[in-house]
Amino acid sequence: MEETFAVKLEKKRYLPDPRCRAAARVPDYPRAYREFMRDPEGFWDRVARELVWFKPWDQVREWNYPYAKWFVNGQLNITASCLDRHAAGDRKDKPAIIWRGEGGEEERVFTYDGLRREVMRFANGLKLLGVGKGDRVCIYMPLVPEQVVAMLACARIGAVHSVVFGGFGPDALATRINDAAAKVLITADVAYRRGKTVPLREIALEALARTPCVERVVVLRREHPKVDLDPDREVDYADLMAAAAPSSPAEAMDAEDPLFILYTSGSTGAPKGIVHTCGGYAVGAYYTTKCVFDIKESDVYWCTADPGWITGHSYVVYGPLAVGTTVVIVEGAPDHPDPGACWRQVRDLGVTVFYTAPTAIRMFMRYGDRWPAKYDLSTLRVLGSVGEPLNPEAFEWYYHRIGGGRCPIVDTWWQTETGMHMATTMIGEAMKPGFVGKAVPGAVVDVVDRTGRPVPPGTGGFLVVREPWPAMLRGVHGNDERYRAYWNTIPGCYTAGDLAVKDEDGYIMVLGRADDLIVVAGHNIGTAEVESALVSHDAVAEAAVIGKPDPLKGNAIKAFVTLRAGVIPDDGLSGELARHVKKSLGPVAVPAEIEYVDRLPKTRSGKIMRRVLRARELGMDPGDISTLEE
Ligand code: WT7
Repeated sequence: MEETFAVKLEKKRYLPDPRCRAAARVPDYPRAYREFMRDPEGFWDRVARELVWFKPWDQVREWNYPYAKWFVNGQLNITASCLDRHAAGDRKDKPAIIWRGEGGEEERVFTYDGLRREVMRFANGLKLLGVGKGDRVCIYMPLVPEQVVAMLACARIGAVHSVVFGGFGPDALATRINDAAAKVLITADVAYRRGKTVPLREIALEALARTPCVERVVVLRREHPKVDLDPDREVDYADLMAAAAPSSPAEAMDAEDPLFILYTSGSTGAPKGIVHTCGGYAVGAYYTTKCVFDIKESDVYWCTADPGWITGHSYVVYGPLAVGTTVVIVEGAPDHPDPGACWRQVRDLGVTVFYTAPTAIRMFMRYGDRWPAKYDLSTLRVLGSVGEPLNPEAFEWYYHRIGGGRCPIVDTWWQTETGMHMATTMIGEAMKPGFVGKAVPGAVVDVVDRTGRPVPPGTGGFLVVREPWPAMLRGVHGNDERYRAYWNTIPGCYTAGDLAVKDEDGYIMVLGRADDLIVVAGHNIGTAEVESALVSHDAVAEAAVIGKPDPLKGNAIKAFVTLRAGVIPDDGLSGELARHVKKSLGPVAVPAEIEYVDRLPKTRSGKIMRRVLRARELGMDPGDISTLEE
């Protein structure tokens, strides 16, 4: 993007119920933010004291641009905050995890005490395999409690986990194993999805043919009869547990020791191993879970993400367990065996806080109102969204059809790299559909031009973070150059790679990735804006737009559209959609071409892969597509 550009801003707002605000953990956001800005280190010092530390820190933050240390010389183990302190207190018998299989027939519950015992035993099992502090362990598992146990067991002994989402194929898995030089792989025979089995172990074996670093493989066997294992290399999860001693003290970790590596795919090049550390990450994930979702003792919390993504790391595992809430985990697809499956779980389990992605919300919208209408969703009190812009249309649907017009929506902007929520609309503040909101207390987020100067309201620019924050990435595994690039692009700032705009009140609207910008006749058009305009038409379920070279305009917009259930495209529809976009965004944003498709190419985390559409359209190489679903 060469210049900053003008963006038309929506004006609609929803005022939350004043009772929500009064009861919130952060009842006065402007004040909380002012307090943070007055004394950032004091703010984080107070938060960190709410966790368990073995040795206090000498200094809250050491900033040696672009390298940060947090809670310098402090020692802790995140599992002491996530497990031991709850198990030793009033939460001993409180459910930590309620797991359900796809469709909800199978249920397993782990109390905080039970989860702690499971984790300690598995930690000892890992030690039997020769895993120690600093060793890397790759976890390639379905969405089962053992996946969470494996992560926490690594943390318990100071091993660095690298979770690879169970939907990835052998190449993606092998690349990640080798980059991290993992010594042990933890997997399962199968995952269950849409009533079918996914042969995880077979996929893993294919990857293992190319990963000489892996010495041992732990296999959770779920199928009957049990698959045969290779005794030289493989060990059954249950056998390992049986052989292991029950008690395992939490290893004292330096605050800056690595806790995990998680791979994120850049738009180009090999995936980046984002490194997070023990101290700052724990503090950031804990604080945001507690305050952004406003977690109370009686909550039943469900984040639909898989721990294979950062959302699962921070908001299925570490954040919620550090807070001591009850975490719901459901394996399988949220619309299987029927489009009401997800809402049935909310009703049956009495879910109060629900966190999902816009792609899922739009999918449910597409199925129609009658599915959520079948179930009593009145236990819900907070709704969250993450991963992509929550377009106003989807916001409205989520707010009214799922939240009953009663629940605040926290649209949380953050990244694998940030480790924690960075911007949202804190509960109690006015919500504006289409806008994520403002920086969370503890973060300094801004929209700037190329030189780092803030742009005026209504002008698009780059979304950046101005100050280090505790859960920030500490590096890209084995590639310092790529780490430095985050802080080199715009002077003095962490560049997120997203485009955004602020309104008069300082609310931030995320327009999409900077590389998804289309320049049409000299105007910068954000894909998200055009897509949002298309989706606001009754016939449209989802849309993806790309730029196509055009001799006249430089680029022309092409839209790929999926339609809502029951809509059949007739001759008039494309013209109508074009008029609809023209009305909302002006003539420059009108797609020159509209193609109706059954589905859009997405990453396994639900992001639309526009570059795949572009490559297909232009007959080019799509680049790395290891993250593409199916
Ligand atoms: C990118 C980071 C953070 C967990 C999931 C994705 C986009 C994320 C939002 C939001 C608009 C969002 C951004 C960001 N994104 N949340 N609330 N509104 N866009 O993690 O895979 O590291 O992706 O997701 O483009 O840069 P990730």
